[in-house]
Amino acid sequence: MNTRTSPENLAPFGEDHGPLLTGVYAPVAEELALKDLKLLKGAIPTNLNGVYLRAGPNARYAPNGRYHPFDGDGMVHAAHFENGHLTYRNRWVQTEGFVEEQQVGKSTHFGIRETLKGRPDKRLKDTANTDLVGHRGRALALWYMSGDAYEIDPITLETLGKSTAISHSGGKISAHAKVDEITEEMMFFDYGNDAPYMHYGVVGADGQLKHHVPIDLPGPRLPHDMAVTEHYSVLHDLPLFHDHEAMALGRHKIQFHPEMSSRFGVIARFGAADSIRWFSFTPCYLYHVVNAWEEGDWVVMVGCRYMPALDALGNIDAQRTAKDVAELVMHARLWVWKMNMKTGETAEHVLNTQHNAEFPSYNGRLTGRKTRFGYLVDHSETVTLQWAGVRKFDLETGADLGGWSDDAQHSWYSEPWFAEADAPQAEDDGYLISFQWNDALQRQTLDIFDARDLACGPVAQVELPQRLPAGFHACWIERDRLALGRR
Ligand SMILES: [Fe+2]
Repeated sequence: MNTRTSPENLAPFGEDHGPLLTGVYAPVAEELALKDLKLLKGAIPTNLNGVYLRAGPNARYAPNGRYHPFDGDGMVHAAHFENGHLTYRNRWVQTEGFVEEQQVGKSTHFGIRETLKGRPDKRLKDTANTDLVGHRGRALALWYMSGDAYEIDPITLETLGKSTAISHSGGKISAHAKVDEITEEMMFFDYGNDAPYMHYGVVGADGQLKHHVPIDLPGPRLPHDMAVTEHYSVLHDLPLFHDHEAMALGRHKIQFHPEMSSRFGVIARFGAADSIRWFSFTPCYLYHVVNAWEEGDWVVMVGCRYMPALDALGNIDAQRTAKDVAELVMHARLWVWKMNMKTGETAEHVLNTQHNAEFPSYNGRLTGRKTRFGYLVDHSETVTLQWAGVRKFDLETGADLGGWSDDAQHSWYSEPWFAEADAPQAEDDGYLISFQWNDALQRQTLDIFDARDLACGPVAQVELPQRLPAGFHACWIERDRLALGRR
């Protein structure tokens, strides 16, 4: 795995546990709540009201054996904006595994380089470290391997408990559940090693489980995301999954199968299990969807297609593709997939060939509705989890609408999120928010851009006294949606 390390910033548990717990990846020991932060540039906009939350791994105790960035205990970092005032907070998610380890004062679980999900002798921890979703005024901390939905107070970051709707489903929830902000319904999926290998469900605006159906896949798969439109949900069956023999021996080995298709299953929001329609496309892996919507009979999904590695002859190098995916080396391009619900036709094409664009965001009010703008990171070609800049794209034409990096060599931006301004006049009337660590200056900032023009650089930049370790996903919850949980 390619990493950039520095000898300083070892993890708080002292001894060196390798490059992925050192430098920019090293966890932090303190939970902070800070106001009156040092403004380096501009002013906090008064028409920016809500909370930006970012999830990521932050190991509490030294690992048992080899460590992977997916293993660390979930920690949430928050920037809460209220009438021109900013508060920064960070807290661990109090998962069952985290609480258990705190009681004994050491790691009692193992990471994915040491074990597999479901092994009782070497338990894997549901860290809730992957993704955050705002639903009913709360934030849900989710895990990519399908776990519980931990409900978090988005202001105090207190862990409130597990979602009862997900518990009542009898299944789990993967990262990347989607909330339709118009109906406040949340669509979700889980996946696992046992037939039918996937479930799909809907939690209503009242917090109750409204729908839950099994989705039959041809075998165990490793889907990472899903999409929703106004009437449909889109589930993923991708040709990248565990080697069954290695798995039987208790080892992790994933394989890419270029001889297979990528398949997307379209199901009505409350559709019966057998009503799902599958559409086949060229083989790829796909971590993240930007957004999806309906255009007449077409379901349109825009995402970051993981471009398979090629050998010297231009053929797909399946082994290298699987290795790159496992090691989080991203080579993604903005891509559109189209599925015709009437004729069964499909179409797909690249939107932008130039930029290695990942960790997408957009105006969340328009989840499932046509969006013109996407905001993504410039992903490093070689360094794990280094996102060196932010960039805006036209999702119709793929045009690069400008980006920004303070320092393309040394900046580490977090997944940015679009934050609507009060009383917005247009889809992009608002801000783009991202934390940024500069490893040359050893400086942590929170950067706020005018989403209409990222290339102008941040309109406000605030210095934080504590580094944020490189992490995963973020979300934005507007003030009015925060209020949903406080009635
Ligand atoms: Fe993800």
